[in-house]
Amino acid sequence: MTSLDEQARAILRGNDQGGYTLPTHGLYPYQWNWDSAFAAWGFATFDNARAWDELDTLMASQWDTGMVPHIIFHKPDPGYFPGPDVWQTGQSPATSGITQPPVAAIMARKVWEMDPEAGQARMAALYPKLLAWHRWWHEVRCTHGPAAITHPWESGRDNCPDWDIGMAGVDGSSAGQYQRRDTGHVNPEMRPTKQDYDRYIAMVKFGCSVDWDQARIVRDGPFLMADPGITFMLLRADEDLAVMGRALGEDVTKLLGWAKDLRAALPTIWNDELNAYDALNLKTGEFANILGSGAFMAYLADAGNPQLDAQLMRVWDKVNYGIPSADPEAATFDPRKYWRGPTWPVVNALLAIGLRDAGRADLAERLRAQTASLIRKHGFYEYFDPLDATPCGGADFTWTAAIWLTWAGRDVESDAVRGAA
Ligand code: GLC
Repeated sequence: MTSLDEQARAILRGNDQGGYTLPTHGLYPYQWNWDSAFAAWGFATFDNARAWDELDTLMASQWDTGMVPHIIFHKPDPGYFPGPDVWQTGQSPATSGITQPPVAAIMARKVWEMDPEAGQARMAALYPKLLAWHRWWHEVRCTHGPAAITHPWESGRDNCPDWDIGMAGVDGSSAGQYQRRDTGHVNPEMRPTKQDYDRYIAMVKFGCSVDWDQARIVRDGPFLMADPGITFMLLRADEDLAVMGRALGEDVTKLLGWAKDLRAALPTIWNDELNAYDALNLKTGEFANILGSGAFMAYLADAGNPQLDAQLMRVWDKVNYGIPSADPEAATFDPRKYWRGPTWPVVNALLAIGLRDAGRADLAERLRAQTASLIRKHGFYEYFDPLDATPCGGADFTWTAAIWLTWAGRDVESDAVRGAA
């Protein structure tokens, strides 16, 4: 029998389209932004040059504005909706018109540290592009303080309950007739609802109607919410980019200034009533009052505190495997519905990086062992039921394979001793 390491490498190679990697065949037949960053980290464990190629291909589709799109439609595929004809962004290759969590600099630093000499020239070439993307985030999307999203898909946590109050303000009636493709690939019960989809498409149509003019989308668009998850990831990515900039002899003053301003804005997303960081509807000033996995990304940016520690332990102790994407004690919790409860190995990996940096190696190890046991039981699925480990979504998933190689599968021997397998 092939080892899980070999299986994980075979998944990365099997999803490799030459320069970019599909998240999984069928369900996601293009290049996705943050999936690619994780793919690069995974490739770096056995092919460092291929890791840099992944990041290069992603950044090659950066818009002139600095934005890096969430999907790059390299080759037409009728199996996915909404495709390039719906987005109409006029880019070549075609892309979507929104972005995704800026984890590329976090992963680039890891790839570089895994082979500093080989990575020096590759990182030097990538640096100005990453910097331009970060500038875009800070100047265009942090105008209210924390990082804001204009479409739930930008968060990477598409249908998590954090966005419900913002979604309620979106009129889905302009979506018109369309045929979803996702529900033909996986169990529709586990996917977002038709009402959600109508609203997602209505937001895309708004973007098209203003020619993807960001200032107008932020000002007049149907949806604008501050995302704790992206805020913390951006803060972490800024700091990682600054470390790399310094090593390359760049002046990082501006970058550190952005990070400082963003850190100063963190109190605006702290919800005293919830006792946690929270998503904030920037159109109405209302908090979501939802404890989601985005709040726990605080550890990545050295922004944890004792109240958040208590919340983390409360939600974690209510499940058996990993961190749930939404609060298991909330009425909206659904352990198999995408981002409304399931645990996502890739989010667990990010959280573990943060916990380790925060000096909580014991918690990071607990999270690793639980994530490893999911993959060992059922394989490299997209996400899992955190109560009974049922595998959900797509199989042979790139980022699950990547985090196995880099993190979850890194302590197999001691797992066997501990009986975590
Ligand atoms: C889904 C996820 C998103 C991911 C994409 C491709 O849309 O919510 O985070 O990037 O699939 O895997």
